[in-house]
Parts: sequence; C-alpha cells; structure tokens
Amino acid sequence: MNDGQYTALKARIRQLTRIDLDFYKDVQMRRRLDNYIRARDQTVEAFVRTLSQSPQEVQRLKDFLTINVTEFFRDPEQFDILRRKVIPDLIKRGSKLSVWSAGCSKGAEAYTLAMILSEATPSVEFSILATDIDDGVLALAREGGPYTPADLRALPKAFALKYFTKTPEGHFVKDEARRGVTFRKHNLLADTYERGFDLILCRNVVIYFTEEAKANITRGFSMALKPDGFLFIGATEALLQAQSLGLDRLSTCFYQKVGDVPRALAA
Ligand SMILES: C[S@@+](CC[C@H](N)C(=O)[O-])C[C@H]1O[C@@H](n2cnc3c(N)ncnc32)[C@H](O)[C@@H]1O
Repeated sequence: MNDGQYTALKARIRQLTRIDLDFYKDVQMRRRLDNYIRARDQTVEAFVRTLSQSPQEVQRLKDFLTINVTEFFRDPEQFDILRRKVIPDLIKRGSKLSVWSAGCSKGAEAYTLAMILSEATPSVEFSILATDIDDGVLALAREGGPYTPADLRALPKAFALKYFTKTPEGHFVKDEARRGVTFRKHNLLADTYERGFDLILCRNVVIYFTEEAKANITRGFSMALKPDGFLFIGATEALLQAQSLGLDRLSTCFYQKVGDVPRALAA
C-alpha cells in the first residue's frame, strides 16, 4: 500500500480499536497488513469499508495485530533464573511482593509466576497484577482456562498434576494457582502505570513497537519499580537505553532498578 493508504488505514484502525500504529515499526507493520489484506483478496479501500461495517472483522484484525501467542513456563531456563536468583533476593526483603505481568495474554505467564511463588515458600505473600490490551484473552485468563496441550507444553509434570484440572474443553488452573492474581485491561502505550512493583514482566510484547515507544515503556517501568526491583523481558529482546533510565542489565532477560531514583526520573 502507498503512504496515503497507510495513513488512512492507520487512522481508521486507531478509531475502531484504540491501537495506534504510529508506535509500531513502520516497514514490518505495513508488510504484515499488506499480506493480511491480500489474503482477503481486497483492496485497501475495500478493507477499510469492511472494517467500518463489521465488528467481527475489527476483532479479527485486533487479534492479528496484538499476537496473543503464549504458554506456561515460556523460556523455562529464564524462569529457572527467576526461581533460583531473583525470587530468593525478593523474599529476603520481607514484605509482601507486588508483581506486574504486562501484556499477559491468556494469563499463562501470571499463573506460572503464581505457581513458582507458591512453591518458593508457602508463607510468602504476593499480589500479581496481569494486564493486556485485549478483552478476549483477558476473559479466558479470568476463567483460568481452557488451556490447550500446546499451552502446557513446557509446564513441569508435577505442576500440571498439582495446579490443573483436565476437562473435555481443556485444562483449567485450580484456585491454588489463582490466589493473588488479578487481571485488568491496560494499554501500555496510552494508560498510566501503577507504581511500587518488586518485579515487572513484559515479555514478547514490544517486539513490533518503535524504539521511541519502547523507550517510553521502559521509562514507565523504571518509574513503576521499587528501588532494586527487577524487570524480566523476552529472550529475543534488549533494552537499548536501560542504563540511562536507571536500569542495570543483569543477564539476557533481567534488569534491576538502581537503588536510588536517578535525578532525571525523580523530577
Ligand atoms: C505475544 S503475547 C505475550 C504474552 C506473554 N507475555 C508471553 O510472553 O508469553 C503479546 C501480548 O501483548 C499484548 N499487547 C500488545 N500491545 C499491547 C499494548 N499496547 N498494551 C498492552 N498489551 C499489549 C497482546 O494483546 C498480547 O496478548
């Protein structure tokens, strides 16, 4: 599509979905949308008309744009680092742990955390806020399922037996792993961020965002973390400006907020 068509399409999508494609990498997004529209055998103009007439098409496009792929214990080796190194450090601090799973999709990440924290020490108190822009995935997450066998692929057997119920519709998370988990709609690119978190997970969410949008989100997370709090990102991601935003890189996926709030952020 040409520049004029892309600008008009972005405006319509913003109106209908609240998703602002100016925050997404231009070349990739344009290519993805071109393929999406071509697969429907439509011109850009006809596609815009379809969107205006069909809420189902709007929902389908939203699903396509937000990409909800997830699973329990996604990147198990990173969850192992979380369990062995990060969580013991947080538990030592002695207070109730406050965690945010940002861009949580169907909730597999938030429930994975709830299981790990429940196992870490039965006495540790925690709350997990899990947010996403997409109502559809949040509805499934709030119900605790149904999850498919693919969603449970990396889940340790013992956890599957202890924390899941199998039904004809799929697997559901038991109440034991839902304790302390709250789901809420939240747009990382538009809404304000709560503060006071010990740990934030934002994994496989910002991949298609522009560097500017990523920097704004990282700044928001830095402000939302308590001093010495941790940020856990996706295995294929990197935060280019972390240091200047007060975050030390600890390993591929883990960053830690420096103890004192940096001057630039305190203003
Ligand atoms: C690929 S999933 C990642 C799920 C989980 N974090 C994981 O790694 O398994 C990306 C999620 O980010 C959500 N998302 C995309 N843009 C968002 C935004 N602006 N604000 C909040 N969530 C967003 C999508 O709806 C989707 O559920």
